[in-house]
Amino acid sequence: MTQIKIALVGCGGMGTRHLYGLKELTDTPFCRVELAALCDINRENGERAAGEVERMMGFRPPVYTDLEEMAKAIPDLDAVDVVTDPSFHHDVVCQALDLGLHVMVEKPFGMTIKTCRMMMDAAERNGKLISVAENYRRDPSARLARHMIEQGAIGDVYGAVLHSIRAGKRIFITPWRHLKERAGPLLDMGVHYTDLIRYQLGEVREIYADARLIETEREKTPEEGSQYGFYQDRHKAMAETVPATAEDSASALFRMESGIALNFMMQLAGPVSFGRQMIWGIEGLIEGFGNRGSQIKLVEMDGTVVEQAELLTRFPDFEIEPLADHFFPTKVSVGDKAVDWKLIALEYHELSEAILDGRDLEIDGEEGLRDVAASHALCESAIAGRAVTMDEVCAGEVYAYQREIDDLLGVK
Ligand SMILES: NC(=O)c1ccc[n+]([C@@H]2O[C@H](COP(=O)([O-])OP(=O)(O)OC[C@H]3O[C@@H](n4cnc5c(N)ncnc54)[C@H](O)[C@@H]3O)[C@@H](O)[C@H]2O)c1
Repeated sequence: MTQIKIALVGCGGMGTRHLYGLKELTDTPFCRVELAALCDINRENGERAAGEVERMMGFRPPVYTDLEEMAKAIPDLDAVDVVTDPSFHHDVVCQALDLGLHVMVEKPFGMTIKTCRMMMDAAERNGKLISVAENYRRDPSARLARHMIEQGAIGDVYGAVLHSIRAGKRIFITPWRHLKERAGPLLDMGVHYTDLIRYQLGEVREIYADARLIETEREKTPEEGSQYGFYQDRHKAMAETVPATAEDSASALFRMESGIALNFMMQLAGPVSFGRQMIWGIEGLIEGFGNRGSQIKLVEMDGTVVEQAELLTRFPDFEIEPLADHFFPTKVSVGDKAVDWKLIALEYHELSEAILDGRDLEIDGEEGLRDVAASHALCESAIAGRAVTMDEVCAGEVYAYQREIDDLLGVK
């Protein structure tokens, strides 16, 4: 077998962006992924996405509304790319694995630890792979920050800050993101941050947090500035106000296994927006954990600021994987309008190499579960009124917050 056949399941906003990612990959000599079909329970979304593929790639993939029917119609299908909203991940992923398909699934891997384990068990019993599509750490800026920490560029690391505060009560992309049983912002957005924290600083030992719901009703943004027709049309159809049941604010101390202390704040409410990310070592500071389309800086002990382009000359042995090097020859993604799609292309490429050549998956089920656990530890700690350990959360010993979600989803 020289390439894999894949189908996209879930053709909404991010699903459409995945198709742009696939297009980026097909335009390189690295591509070993063939798009065989699309699937969405909403036929209109599937057909719209098929139109995008036709426009971009010159063929119109078949559209299905039922996963099993699609798998029967395409017996040589190897994998599915699951980009449904998170509350459907476990159902769709388990069904796909039981149909004998490998799976790539968008973050957050699952809604709770229990649903993550259901998917990992299904992968195990079917001997198939799960790759969690977590894109932020794949940017060259995140790779460089980690390389610098490993090289001792800032000496022993002892502290960090990750603050992400977005003002106001606007709807965050989709109404479902504000509902506890559909993935609140602390999970949906929070896993990007917990993944970056774990990627740069190692495993979390414990988290002590306050988490709360500030805005119980969200308002539609006056305008949708996105380049994608799908987002624009959905915005037109959106209600003026929607209910919010999921926590939208958290403030926490993360204690890492290494002893590093991280001050975390995430909020989608209040009068001001601000964001700051810093990693302190005894010999300097890295500004930024790295992120899609971003760059990091080094701040030396005398206050001198060194930008990423200059840092690259100081770390000539810093390497990124061949496809990333093809996409980002300068190893800086700032200003690259296709960065979102290129990071998705890297995810598809890794999956194809894992299936075809046995390459290790960077974010497998266990990694995806740990990102979810660290995010849920925020609300679990707030309910417990004490610091909770990652071990307790991963083992389901601290579970009050997730019990409510599992009950709402009917997960036993
Ligand atoms: N990595 C990132 O930067 C990033 C960005 C945005 C979204 N996401 C993730 O992508 C996923 C999808 O988010 P979105 O914003 O595209 O949501 P969305 O609501 O725009 O799209 C979800 C799509 O899935 C379809 N769907 C739902 N259940 C289905 C099922 N059982 N079978 C087939 N199709 C089904 C819906 O009809 C819809 O078309 C989420 O997990 C989200 O967290 C990741």
